Amino acid sequence: MAEPTALPSPVMIIGVSGFLGRHLAAYLAGRGVEIVGTTRFSDRDELPEGVSRLNTWNGREESELAPLLKGIPAVVNFAGAPLKTRPWTPAFRRRLRDSRIRSAAALMSALSSRRKSVRVLQGSAVGVYGNTKNRWVDEDSPSGRGFLADLVVDWETAAWEMRPRQVSLALLRTGVVLSEEGGFLKRLHSIQRLGINPLPGGGRQWVSWIHLEDYLAAVAFLLIDTEITGPVNLCAPFPQRFAALTAMTSRGKIKRLPLHIPARPVRFALGAAAEPLLEGQRARSKRLRDAGFRFAHPKLTAGIQF
Ligand SMILES: NC(=O)c1ccc[n+]([C@@H]2O[C@H](COP(=O)([O-])OP(=O)(O)OC[C@H]3O[C@@H](n4cnc5c(N)ncnc54)[C@H](OP(=O)(O)O)[C@@H]3O)[C@@H](O)[C@H]2O)c1
Repeated sequence: MAEPTALPSPVMIIGVSGFLGRHLAAYLAGRGVEIVGTTRFSDRDELPEGVSRLNTWNGREESELAPLLKGIPAVVNFAGAPLKTRPWTPAFRRRLRDSRIRSAAALMSALSSRRKSVRVLQGSAVGVYGNTKNRWVDEDSPSGRGFLADLVVDWETAAWEMRPRQVSLALLRTGVVLSEEGGFLKRLHSIQRLGINPLPGGGRQWVSWIHLEDYLAAVAFLLIDTEITGPVNLCAPFPQRFAALTAMTSRGKIKRLPLHIPARPVRFALGAAAEPLLEGQRARSKRLRDAGFRFAHPKLTAGIQF
């Protein structure tokens, strides 16, 4: 059988209103792909750039999603409550888990009666490896420990175990996606505007990062190559330590005062919410490398633009 070389169309993006969803919609639409989005809110009438149709889906009921999937050859699922930096109450932890696990499971159930094959790229995170300290990890490494690692394991398992035969499923184990327009860098720059560079736990933890341009190109690559299934790390080949990354990506030439914040008070104030700040992953993507994917930005270099 000849390998597909073209992007599928239409592509459904679940969670299209978010940081990654919005950028992916515009990127794929710019390459001729029709984009169908979903959101939980029926009163959202503004279409994100590149989206031709916006459906309402609550992220839970498979019976409501199944009819929307008719004739769709590929789905990217980004649904999930954002990880806020504030103490995570038991109710908020439940929301973080349920919003991801339920939508992943419901998507698979909704596809169970499909006859034609369908490509699914399910959102996931390198946090699955837990705190790796100086140890390198790739897709063959075992999962780690902690609230976030457990969450990601359950999130991936919900999708993987329930995937129907006709679904070709890849799990997007995403690192920190870097762009001036959203996510980590936007939050960092709003703090750096105060003249400080916050270094929780001293800043020696590794950050597996990926430039937004490479992220979008890698997702497109995975939409085309449906033979790649299972976990795929979406992170640049050269992770950086938190302190170096935040210094190299700071905006403009102004020197920011490094503000060392010891781990203990961060843990005390934030509890489990301190995990993504204090812990890190030194991950690389064996699957993308073996498949021949080329990063435009493999290293953080001085002057790199986001
Ligand atoms: N950005 C990164 O650097 C990064 C790194 C690693 C992993 N990830 C993962 O990749 C996915 C997308 O990331 P992102 O940065 O685009 O996230 P985001 O901006 O927070 O967007 C997430 C999307 O999920 C939907 N959503 C929010 N709360 C929800 C809930 N309670 N139940 C169901 N859906 C909900 C929202 O859509 P509506 O409100 O329109 O329904 C939103 O469009 C997330 O699962 C995230 O954990 C992101």
